[in-house]
Amino acid sequence: MKPKELMRRAYEAAKNAYAPYSKFRVGAALEMASGKIICGVNVENRSYGLTNCAERTAIFTALSMGERNIRAIAIAGPDSREPLPPCGACRQVISEFCDSETPLYYDDGEKAYLSSTVGEIYPANSLMNLASKQN
Ligand code: THU
Repeated sequence: MKPKELMRRAYEAAKNAYAPYSKFRVGAALEMASGKIICGVNVENRSYGLTNCAERTAIFTALSMGERNIRAIAIAGPDSREPLPPCGACRQVISEFCDSETPLYYDDGEKAYLSSTVGEIYPANSLMNLASKQN
């Protein structure tokens, strides 16, 4: 799928974000190796600390659906004028299910689609050898 279309899906998902505290909506769209597109949104909580980012919501949803292999990730922040790369916790989780070449797409607020790879945003892949033993 073209980055533009995957980003459109991420924006569509962001409409379902639950972000009453930060007022900062985020949507993530995963293109799976199967061709399925699976989305997630940030889900905040009044405890603040229990907030789940859009990227992890999307990945946990994918796993729950029996999907594990991610081909590409788009992240949309309709309330942001800046590209929105994943937070540190999400990078760790993303690294579990992606190759270092897996592309990530960000929107720069001007509808341009910047890209990077999982290897670029997470170069020293923590516990990589353990991950290869996953069932
Ligand atoms: N957030 C995400 O969902 N993904 C990111 O990549 C960055 C931050 C969420 C968490 C919180 O609900 C809000 O954005 C503000 O940090």
